[in-house]
Amino acid sequence: MQYSRVLGTGSYLPSRVMTNADLESIVDTSASWILERTGIEKRHLVGDTETCCDLAEAAARNALDAAGIAATELDLILVATTTPDQFFPSTACLLQQRLDVHGCAAFDLQAVCAGFVYALDVADKFIRTGAAKHVLVVGAETISRVLDWTDRTTCVLFGDGAGAVVLGAADEPGIISSHLHADGAYKELLQIPGGHGNGRPEAAFMEMKGNEVFRIAVTTLGRIVEETLEANGLTRDDIDWLIPHQANIRIIQATARKLDLPLERVIITVAEHGNTSSASIPLAFDQAVRDGRIQRGQTVLMEAFGGGFTWGSVLLRY
Ligand code: UT7
Repeated sequence: MQYSRVLGTGSYLPSRVMTNADLESIVDTSASWILERTGIEKRHLVGDTETCCDLAEAAARNALDAAGIAATELDLILVATTTPDQFFPSTACLLQQRLDVHGCAAFDLQAVCAGFVYALDVADKFIRTGAAKHVLVVGAETISRVLDWTDRTTCVLFGDGAGAVVLGAADEPGIISSHLHADGAYKELLQIPGGHGNGRPEAAFMEMKGNEVFRIAVTTLGRIVEETLEANGLTRDDIDWLIPHQANIRIIQATARKLDLPLERVIITVAEHGNTSSASIPLAFDQAVRDGRIQRGQTVLMEAFGGGFTWGSVLLRY
């Protein structure tokens, strides 16, 4: 039996930082409201000429270095993003060209904030079936480009960034199990309603009914962690680290409470990054690997929830 394991992680944040205080001059908000309701203190935003692929490339190079893998050894490049540079080619193909590799499969996957968890599951399945030995999985977003900067209910919440992992074939897991779900019935609560496809390109900005999303996110994430533990006959004591999607510190605290996990065992980056959608989990993962908190052999539970709604989890031994 073939499994996949994480060979290396990487991440990248654009250099421009916007604090809560900076936002006070853009919309009718206060630094203290943002901090109290979300836990966010600041976020990184792309500069005028920076693109999603720029962020993806920097994160990917870091992950390849950490894995000790040359880009030419990749069998698949997978980019989870909702904010690609252009309609097509995919950001994965643009990234492939930047890495100067030619011929391996490359495609984007769009599951909004759950995108990285979805992409890890797909990559794991490519490796388990023997279709790939080395897969680069990137979560990269320039969410700031699809925000309505006059809407205080959304523009204060998000940031830009990218995180990546290189997965490689292994005799033992690695990725132990993944659990993916979606329910398109909740479209009205969180969406970018416009696009060329429905003749409304002018409406290509995010809309969210935050309070309703919040309530459903808390319940759903509680369920997905239970589902993951049950599927593997594990208890919370078997989990060394929880890496949640970083949307709101209050959602993270609620999931940790559900697991009865002290916050010291939860990787939290929401204060510094805000919500970077599909980049939030790999950014947090890379930070905790590089600062030495997550050690080889430890068990990590990732969970995410986002537009669609999409949600899911990945349980892995690092
Ligand atoms: O990653 C994808 C999934 N997304 C999420 O998980 C986000 C989930 N939602 C949330 O994190 C929270 O619901 C928010 C942070 C978006 C909002 O927090 P809340 O505690 O649910 O606030 P609320 O929406 O109930 O709004 C409370 C008040 C309202 O004023 P009134 O009607 O009580 O007078 C809002 O108009 O806060 C007001 N408000 C703001 N005030 C200052 C909303 N946004 C702001 C703001 N600054 N930026």
